[in-house]
Amino acid sequence: MSVKEIFDTMDYGTAPESAAEALAWLVDGGDRFGLFIGGKMTDPGAVFEAKNPATGEVLAHLTQATEADVEAAVTAARKAQSKWAKDSKARAKVLYALARLVQKHARLFAVLETLDNGKPIRESRDIDVALVARHFYYHAGMAQLMDEELPGREALGVCGQIIPWNFPLLMLAWKVAPAIAMGNTVVLKPAEYTSLTALLFAQICQEAGVPKGVVNIVTGDGAVGEMIVTHPGLDKIAFTGSTTVGRRIREATAGSGKSLTLELGGKSPYIVFEDADIDSAIEGLVDAIFFNQGQVCCAGSRLLVQEGIAEDFHARLVARMGNLRIGNPLDKSIDVGAIVDPVQLQRIESLVAKGGAEGTVHQPVKAPEGCFYPPTLVSGLEPSSLLMQEEIFGPVLVSTTFRTPAEAVQVANNTRYGLAASVWTENVNLALDIAPKLVAGVVWVNGSNMFDAAAGFGGVRESGFGREGGWEGLMAYTKPAGKATLVKPAKAHMKPDDVEVLGLDRTAKLYIGGKQARPDGGYSQAIYSPKGKLLGHSSIASRKDIRNAVEAAQGAKGWAKATAHNRAQVLYFIGENLSARADEFATRIRDLTGTTEAKAQAEVAEAIDTLFTYAAWCDKLDGAAKPVPMRGVALAMNEPVGVIGAFCDDRPLAGLIEVIAPAIAMGNRVIAVASEAYPLAATDFYQVLDTSDVPAGVVNILTGSHAELAKTMAGHMDVEAVWSFSSAEISAVIEKESAGNLKRTWVNNGLSRTYPARDWLAQATEVKTIWVPYGE
Ligand code: NAI
Repeated sequence: MSVKEIFDTMDYGTAPESAAEALAWLVDGGDRFGLFIGGKMTDPGAVFEAKNPATGEVLAHLTQATEADVEAAVTAARKAQSKWAKDSKARAKVLYALARLVQKHARLFAVLETLDNGKPIRESRDIDVALVARHFYYHAGMAQLMDEELPGREALGVCGQIIPWNFPLLMLAWKVAPAIAMGNTVVLKPAEYTSLTALLFAQICQEAGVPKGVVNIVTGDGAVGEMIVTHPGLDKIAFTGSTTVGRRIREATAGSGKSLTLELGGKSPYIVFEDADIDSAIEGLVDAIFFNQGQVCCAGSRLLVQEGIAEDFHARLVARMGNLRIGNPLDKSIDVGAIVDPVQLQRIESLVAKGGAEGTVHQPVKAPEGCFYPPTLVSGLEPSSLLMQEEIFGPVLVSTTFRTPAEAVQVANNTRYGLAASVWTENVNLALDIAPKLVAGVVWVNGSNMFDAAAGFGGVRESGFGREGGWEGLMAYTKPAGKATLVKPAKAHMKPDDVEVLGLDRTAKLYIGGKQARPDGGYSQAIYSPKGKLLGHSSIASRKDIRNAVEAAQGAKGWAKATAHNRAQVLYFIGENLSARADEFATRIRDLTGTTEAKAQAEVAEAIDTLFTYAAWCDKLDGAAKPVPMRGVALAMNEPVGVIGAFCDDRPLAGLIEVIAPAIAMGNRVIAVASEAYPLAATDFYQVLDTSDVPAGVVNILTGSHAELAKTMAGHMDVEAVWSFSSAEISAVIEKESAGNLKRTWVNNGLSRTYPARDWLAQATEVKTIWVPYGE
């Protein structure tokens, strides 16, 4: 037999990993597992089955947690929190011990994960578990550095964490490591399909000396998730999973005062230009969409390939897909394992059945019997096709073509999601021109599905908000130290019996698109001083005015591209022009609020100082180059959020400037709704804006009822974020209505606290992580 013949006929040999150790661990656990609460495993309660999706075998029985269990877990976490938060260096040691123990038990973790989830052992061994250890190491370091590098920040308290089934242990690590590093304690619920590695992790917590109550793990289905989400004793909810459930959680937590981060679905574009290294792009694509059977939130599931190479690219891709090995996940030679559960298999099958006919379906390898789905390409789709828009969450790649880079960007961004994107080209100019234009939290240049603890991960649009990993990830688990005070919204002064009559109509209009605009409804209200003097009238904005302001703000996109230096100049100019009229504003503030002359002057001085501060920040909020352990660098670039709606507090001028300055400094456009009781300083401010070179539409100011306007602002699909420093009721409305397009919100819940500039800047930016090849 010639070598050629051997190569032609040779089949691969199987290389199964032994499941013995993992099965023995399950037997040791007594087959029926309880919950991990207060450092101990409870007795099992009512149970459900944990199955191996590759074989259908029952692996163990798990407890469906009850309300009382969740209560006990929250109580244990609360009890442990203050002591745990005290000593960050002691925490560092515990996190380090966890990292070491994950490594020590790496094989057991990997096999258990593969048995429970169906992912190829190659992946659980080389990717999942390795990244888990890295995450604990990295955050052990963050705990070590917290006192020195994050002065003035403290833990949020007790965090509820709900994770999905696609990376069971890795998602646990992403949630637990930063939370406990920063001094929080947690109640975590793994997904009902995949809870076993979380229970093994509970055992590791005992071995590592995690104090009791710091980590609590409750198993069960979505009902247990709901119990956590609605539990009043939690300070934060962190969720990874479907957009549908994410939206429900946003609504359920609205007005509760809980912080929230959501990492949701995606439909990430994989863009291949004709000058790309095609072989690498195809290998990258195999990783992008067939890794973990495509059950990856940031899977490169939408192939956009340049027209000229499309035919050849598809042919080569289908040939490569024909070489993928699908089957027993414990076999080290397997590329594609089992789908997590028959329910998910059915979801994939029905979506492909529904949308596949719009294109051509290629399935060059057959799937074995059972819970498997073959690697699939559906080519020839339109950007609007069902399968191009819906997250399939399976090994199904859908594809369309584009002609020009501009068209590639347009098609790539034609999605309600914004999690990740890959760009393939050998032209560095093209890659780095495209990367900032993609609406996504993560961009891989000539790569795909790269992750590291040092690099932020998370999305925009309906892919959720918040980042996990890196320094930016810590924002989600810390807050500025110090007590908040209750906000008492000011009441407008009442009309006295004998009003001083003024000859002139002094109705202040709204400020939309750089012009003074009459309110759509035509209504206004009289504004009186505390002594009953009529100071003027302010317009009452309505829903239509919000829509007009959003349109104007959306039309001012150029501001995001203005250089930081240019933005700084504009902010300095506003500050300068405000200074020139300081006395006039001080008088206005005194008339509106009845405060002393000195206090009114102090407020104007504060507003000017705020403008100068954010003018200074414009070109100083540096990005970062993260030292990721790969042949590359992960850039953290600060991008503007987009259009921000903001409800101001009752400091007539300082409350307005406080929201405008950081928002526009970072390249956002803003729609500020002035203090409801004292709107007239904001309306005087129009003239300052008019003389300060602020492009039309960058700053829009409305006056009127916050309650009337909050719902429309938060529900508007073209507003990217809403802030509120108004009353608790307004916070609740905003959080609830924001569920529509899952916009970011930053609300005070009726509590006032002073935020350092860094917090404002973080709220005014999205960190985009751009992975670029670099070095050897
Ligand atoms: P899911 O979003 O329902 O499950 C994720 C987690 O949320 C699980 O722990 C679940 O028990 C919990 N959960 C479910 N309902 C809840 C509720 N009302 N309140 C609180 N927690 C709740 O995801 P599912 O149903 O397993 O998968 C459905 C689809 O979601 C998939 O086909 C896929 O498209 C998407 N998905 C996306 C993920 C991502 O990482 N982006 C992960 C998992 C699923």
